[in-house]
Amino acid sequence: MCGIVGYTGPREAYPIVITGLKRLEYRGYDSTGVALLNGGLKVYKKKGRVADLEENILGKNLHCNIAIGHTRWATHGEPSDRNAHPHTSASGKLAMIHNGIIENYAQIKKELLNKGYSFTSDTDTEVLLNFIEDIRKNNDCNLEEAVRVALKRITGAYCILLIDEDDPETIIAARKGSPLVIGVGKGEHFLGSDASPMLEYTKEVVYVNDYELAIVRPNELILKNLGNEKITPFITKLDMELAAIEKGGYDHFMLKEIFEQPSTIHDCLRGRLDAAAGTITMSGVMNNIEHFKNASRIIIVACGTSWHAGLLAEYVIEELCRIPVEVEYASEFRYRNPIVNKGDIIIAISQSGETADTLVAIERAKENGAIIFGIVNVVGSSIARISDGGAYTHAGPEIGVASTKAFTGQLAVIMMMALKIAKEKGTITDDRYNKLLMELDAVPEKVDALLKSADLIKIIAEKYKGAGDALFLGRGYNFPIALEGALKLKEISYIHAEGYPAAEMKHGPIALVDENLPVVFVATKDSYHEKIVSNMQEIKARKGKIIAIITEGDDVIPGLADDVFYVPTADEIIAPLLSTIPLQLLSYYVGIAKGVDVDKPRNLAKSVTVE
Ligand code: F6R
Repeated sequence: MCGIVGYTGPREAYPIVITGLKRLEYRGYDSTGVALLNGGLKVYKKKGRVADLEENILGKNLHCNIAIGHTRWATHGEPSDRNAHPHTSASGKLAMIHNGIIENYAQIKKELLNKGYSFTSDTDTEVLLNFIEDIRKNNDCNLEEAVRVALKRITGAYCILLIDEDDPETIIAARKGSPLVIGVGKGEHFLGSDASPMLEYTKEVVYVNDYELAIVRPNELILKNLGNEKITPFITKLDMELAAIEKGGYDHFMLKEIFEQPSTIHDCLRGRLDAAAGTITMSGVMNNIEHFKNASRIIIVACGTSWHAGLLAEYVIEELCRIPVEVEYASEFRYRNPIVNKGDIIIAISQSGETADTLVAIERAKENGAIIFGIVNVVGSSIARISDGGAYTHAGPEIGVASTKAFTGQLAVIMMMALKIAKEKGTITDDRYNKLLMELDAVPEKVDALLKSADLIKIIAEKYKGAGDALFLGRGYNFPIALEGALKLKEISYIHAEGYPAAEMKHGPIALVDENLPVVFVATKDSYHEKIVSNMQEIKARKGKIIAIITEGDDVIPGLADDVFYVPTADEIIAPLLSTIPLQLLSYYVGIAKGVDVDKPRNLAKSVTVE
């Protein structure tokens, strides 16, 4: 959470930082600030979005060649002008921005209070900054050394950028647990939580690792570890264009990303799936194939939408590969002393590749000798880098806070992986394997076809936008999709929604059903079809309003449901890739009808780098 940007070089720094912050707003958007050096340190900050700050400082002298900026997702201290970053040190000479949480800040604050320091905000960041300044003063050392000493004392997560009024070309940066990318230009450097702020200026970037400290000047990038040893920066070439992070004519990133799915799923399958030849090429899987074939179990760790992809993975892998799978919330797994043995396979699923709970969960498992397989969207992210093997989802940058195209990318990877392992292990017949390959190959075209009826979902959304609650039900492979549908609606429309296995509903949630409750059934044609029709009857008997996602040609459910949306026919294992899309559209259109800022719904952030 929180987005950070920095620039030092010959260009005007303020516009680079402010544009970069707008691109990083998906990471947090409750307050914004910039610090710049132009004949002295200037700090401007404000509660609200980047645009609010921009408007607020119109007319100020913002000319500068060095600046840092921050867009916040509050952890310590409510969103307010005074808690917004950058924070300024007691001397007024240093400014710092921070993404993360300093866990032992209270102890350090006490020490500083005893020394006579006072604080103007409720943040842990201001404590760390003054701690650094105090070390510099008392040890008579330079800022770099003071930062190093301070970072060795603190626990928690951080990515920090600091500037010093007395050193007007240098940004000091460091990370542990929160991402930091440094863009390398000609006589200039860019810093960001991801590469989006620097895309139009350079394609050469350095991903800073945990416990590394960077001293960044226009013509110099020095990378060191906390032991003060130099590290050679490893430059990676970015494979991303500016267009990928712009709205491209759509009203919202979320809508753009929903409509991109025919091509993002295609990109995910491309080069891997060859249905005609009957092959799947996944080097990450093949490099670990003996482990997969001999695995006595697989543990999947993830959060949120990625956890729902993990749940579907359990169903698919158990069915096709006959390997027991456990799906864990990363936040629980990391703390509950789980049994992880040497050689166990842990699959981590994450769009951002930076989710703190997932990252720490796999770090712990790795320490126990587990093999980590990452299913990640963001190339070069922390989870991708600590994994022993993996597969990227290739969905491209996902900017809308609600995950859409990354989810279908995760499902496509999971299905290919399961098919590949099943084939190698001999747990699938050739006929079934070839049929599923053909079906998977046809998904982009089918998604394209169903998106043509998006307006029908808009009509359904208008009808139910006033609901206070909603229930999402599914069975089998569609149960994780029901959970995901409920999560999307909550996030984007603020309507309370619950996902449930359709048959489990009668053990409690059925008490909620009355003529005002919309119940969304994910009921594509599968082996549970008759059973889910019975569940629908149970809802209808209690006057619930039924919205059903069904397969083309279904002539039973339209007679029962109040509203239906058809998706093309598909094998039951593949169908979730289709049935999830109308649910994404439903939440989008309900959110729009209710006036929610769907790309930035309240209280959320895209990349949850705090626990
Ligand atoms: C929901 C959503 C979140 C994320 C979760 C995990 O739309 O986006 O629930 O899925 O925060 O994030 P990643 O996948 O980046 O680890």
